[in-house]
Amino acid sequence: MAQQWIASRPGDLDVFALTEVDTPAPGPGEVTIRVRAAGMNPADYKHVAGGDPADFPKAVGYEVAGTVVAVGPDTEIVTGPVAEGDEVLAFRISGGWATEVTVAAKDVLHRPAEVGVEQAANLLLAGSTAAEMLHVTGASAGEAILVHGASGAVGVSVLQQAAVLGVHVVGTASEANHDVVRRYGGVPVTYGEGLEQRVRDAVAEQGWGRVDAALDCVGTDEALDVSLALVAKERLVTIAAFQRAEAEGIRAIAGRMAASQAYRDGVRTELVRLAREGRLEVPVARTYPLDQAVEAAAFLRGQHPGGKIALVP
Ligand SMILES: NC(=O)c1ccc[n+]([C@@H]2O[C@H](COP(=O)([O-])OP(=O)(O)OC[C@H]3O[C@@H](n4cnc5c(N)ncnc54)[C@H](OP(=O)(O)O)[C@@H]3O)[C@@H](O)[C@H]2O)c1
Repeated sequence: MAQQWIASRPGDLDVFALTEVDTPAPGPGEVTIRVRAAGMNPADYKHVAGGDPADFPKAVGYEVAGTVVAVGPDTEIVTGPVAEGDEVLAFRISGGWATEVTVAAKDVLHRPAEVGVEQAANLLLAGSTAAEMLHVTGASAGEAILVHGASGAVGVSVLQQAAVLGVHVVGTASEANHDVVRRYGGVPVTYGEGLEQRVRDAVAEQGWGRVDAALDCVGTDEALDVSLALVAKERLVTIAAFQRAEAEGIRAIAGRMAASQAYRDGVRTELVRLAREGRLEVPVARTYPLDQAVEAAAFLRGQHPGGKIALVP
């Protein structure tokens, strides 16, 4: 028997339970992975809190890294032929907070030895979101962008992918995390009252002229108001302020949207390559044993985790 976190119904963290489950044998186009680390994202608890009752019970966890322990007939993974014992990462899956999981091979890639297990388990959800944000805002070499929440998981990935593209970044963070923003090549500014002027000052100081695009990884009114004051609406994207985006015609993207899924699937191989080359780090703030997932989620929900969290079975 395997162990897997299941949410019984929409609700808070008290609906999560670690449950004994039978792992199905992999069919054609599937592999079974012994999980070595499960990634953790705000989506894990947000999609339970705001989920459709028809989708429950729901196995939790969208990404993992681990070892292949069984391969279905006629099955290759994204990166090619696969065999038992191969080290892999998987995204976008469901049920990753587990000791073992059977998943579609189209969501599984080989893990290069250079990318640690806990980092790999947290690479692709934040990484592919960051890539799509840069893509839809059309950020290009020599431009300057404003990133709200630059010290967070998505923000840190935006910073590094922007550096690869030659895009300058002013990134908001709390004072305590300014070094994180600097470490990944951004110019930090503190969020809160007076943000717009601080961004203008930072851009002027760097000699960048103006802010060309804004990427909101926070979802506050402040983040959107300051963005709208600085950039054209078509060069703004949010991943967190869905209600206001809909009301005001601001672009919002999410993994549940078909176009986002297609884009994000398409960049996974490139993100793994960047990570292997050391150009895309995944800072891991904490690891928790699998049976402490609720404590880990509560810590993440505190909003200032200072890096990713990995669950280790
Ligand atoms: N739509 C999508 O496809 C998608 C995908 C991934 C994530 N998301 C969403 O995007 C958001 C960020 O995810 P994440 O994984 O990067 O989260 P995270 O690692 O927890 O980062 C949170 C960030 O928000 C900043 N922050 C916290 N309170 C703030 C405030 N009052 N004003 C401005 N900034 C504040 C934090 O800065 P300090 O810690 O420095 O204070 C940190 O940079 C979450 O809401 C998540 O659900 C959406």
